[in-house]
Amino acid sequence: MVDVKELIKKMTLREKLGQMTQLDGFYFSESSAVTGPISEMNISEDDILLLGSVLGTTGASQTTRIQKRHMEKSRLAIPLLFMADVIHGYRTIFPIPLALGCTWDPELVEQAMAAAAKEASVAGVHVNFSPMVDMVRDPRWGRVMETTGEDPYLNSLFAKAFVKAYQGSSYDVPYTLAACVKHFAGYGGAEAGRDYNTVELSNYTLRDQYLPAYKAAVDAGCDMVMTSFNTLDGVPSTANTWLLREVLRNEWGFNGVVISDWGAVKEIIAHGVAEDGKEAVLKSITAGTNIEMMTSTYLNWGEKLVEEGLLDEALIDEAVERILELKVKLGLFENPYRYADTEKEKEIILCKEHRELAYETAVQSLVLLKNDDDILPLDAANKKIALIGPFAESRSILGGWSCEGRDEEAVSIKEGLEAILPADSLFIAKGCDIEEGTDQDIADAVRLAEKCDVIIAALGEHAGMSGEAGSRAFLTLPGRQQELLDALYSTGKKVIVVLFNGRPLDLRPIVEHSAAVLEAWFPGTEGGNAIASVLLGKKAPSGRLTMSFPYTVGQIPVYYNHLNTGRPKLVDTIENRFCSAFLDIPNKPLFPFGYGLTYTTFEYADIKLDNNMLTPDSVIRVSAVVKNTGSRAGVETVQLYIRDITGSRSRPVKELKGFERIELQPGEARKVTFDITEDMLKFTRLDGKFDSEAGRFTAMIGPNAEDTLSVDFILDK
Ligand code: NOJ
Repeated sequence: MVDVKELIKKMTLREKLGQMTQLDGFYFSESSAVTGPISEMNISEDDILLLGSVLGTTGASQTTRIQKRHMEKSRLAIPLLFMADVIHGYRTIFPIPLALGCTWDPELVEQAMAAAAKEASVAGVHVNFSPMVDMVRDPRWGRVMETTGEDPYLNSLFAKAFVKAYQGSSYDVPYTLAACVKHFAGYGGAEAGRDYNTVELSNYTLRDQYLPAYKAAVDAGCDMVMTSFNTLDGVPSTANTWLLREVLRNEWGFNGVVISDWGAVKEIIAHGVAEDGKEAVLKSITAGTNIEMMTSTYLNWGEKLVEEGLLDEALIDEAVERILELKVKLGLFENPYRYADTEKEKEIILCKEHRELAYETAVQSLVLLKNDDDILPLDAANKKIALIGPFAESRSILGGWSCEGRDEEAVSIKEGLEAILPADSLFIAKGCDIEEGTDQDIADAVRLAEKCDVIIAALGEHAGMSGEAGSRAFLTLPGRQQELLDALYSTGKKVIVVLFNGRPLDLRPIVEHSAAVLEAWFPGTEGGNAIASVLLGKKAPSGRLTMSFPYTVGQIPVYYNHLNTGRPKLVDTIENRFCSAFLDIPNKPLFPFGYGLTYTTFEYADIKLDNNMLTPDSVIRVSAVVKNTGSRAGVETVQLYIRDITGSRSRPVKELKGFERIELQPGEARKVTFDITEDMLKFTRLDGKFDSEAGRFTAMIGPNAEDTLSVDFILDK
């Protein structure tokens, strides 16, 4: 066993700074010579041998080659850590995280992400830059695709599931990886949804809405934290001592490694909080940013700062100790290659079992938004089906951050439908591309549609329109797609829209005129099979939104757990003027948080409490009876919300506190019961304590955040 403290004693200051620096695989290639990027970084070729970690290099043969060379040539033979973004799959690609959230099934997502970890670990990855748990309320921000949505409770459950999936119960469990939760903190609050923009948050909102999911990841044992690009209270996260030391280390007891996001140490200068690289280094090391990603300011300035007595070497030792401890924990000193194995890669990557999980997660993440006259599931017998739109035949449905995923390995909606439909029943036309199109193509598609009985329109955004730096101000369908759709409506045929996109879109024009709308997100490798199964009734949809869909862009941010205001709008009509409302649109989103249809219907009745007086050491139970009133079996996600009616601060109108996915046969009714404890009522009170306050509360049960039955109870303490 390596004694980390002893090892640090043997290290030169520059070797320590090397451990604190991460560059990508390019710098480790034998051909990368001292010219070009290395000299721009103002480091030498020898410095590469001092580095502690590699960004974004995957593949067993590549990682092994780099590690081998490093172990042979570097003075102290300290193994490299290989880190990568395995966000929703390595090569078998699962639905994007926003879609995974819509499964409301953390256990299933844990299985899927464990499969992703398995593929990545045999490809030589040691640390995964996931989970991304930034809470989001603004669909203009392209990175909403990487999150599980707008709710702190649900995000926390998923954060935990992701960490458990990667790290297992211990690193002795085969095919585990270290998790790196990001982006700490509040990155999802970027103003106007413009990526990298300023974040302006009250301490109350930060603590109660934004921080819980990061904390859940830390509580689950996550070994690494990545700082965010934004400022909080005017201080960039990477230089934020309050955030990184007081909150993360002291309050939450985190003792893993903190890494900056890409270039974020140097960006402290652009933020106007450091004069130059030297001050940026001083501030970020002092704040506790242990590794700098993709810039070399630590190596450029660290020694000088220590020599001049401005930076205490003990702070550097502290950082290096954490980094080396992680290497020890992962067993890299015993086996620097860990699970990297070219033979296992062949066996595990894209194996049948992983594809099945990709199918299952994709099925569960589809959200049915509209289904007039039960047009879905589609009765395809003796029907001619027109499949139209830029996504009709496209395999580019993996979504952003799809790591080693390859479009050619994905199943398109056409392929999925063809596998189930009788021969010669599917007729295909593109109609237009995602961003452009010709009159001729639209006319051809309409002509084809006219000859068919029903139209499936496969439309959406391309993957690059969401993800990092993927902000959009218009959330309608890009290019001429709406025009295509309008032309299809004018045929008088029923139109079923299947949407591929990385964010909630402005769907009003689509919802109004389509017979059915299925939100498919970017569904991953098995997307086409999953969509076809749901459209044709082999499977029933069960996904539920985890982000509100806005009525229109001007309503953003729109989220279910808002405060009441002093002038709440009681009835959602436009007449009532002097209240918190718009003159021209309703307050309600187009589709609320928690919403999603299936092929049957459910009725809620009889909400009851077993006792309406809760005390800190008791539990009360709230229940409602849910009945399947349709003619097919179906899965319902029964949701529990609570409102704290009066507090030392204004409290959200409702907050998700529990849910249960149940399956009911036609006609079957079941009483669904939730426990309520005092713990569930805690918040950051005006006195700064995270605690509950005695008083009146409302418990609500329903199928989504808008449609609930309610009953009141008292917390007595
Ligand atoms: C920048 C992104 O913000 C972050 O999420 C990612 O992990 C790093 N680049 C590394 O690729």
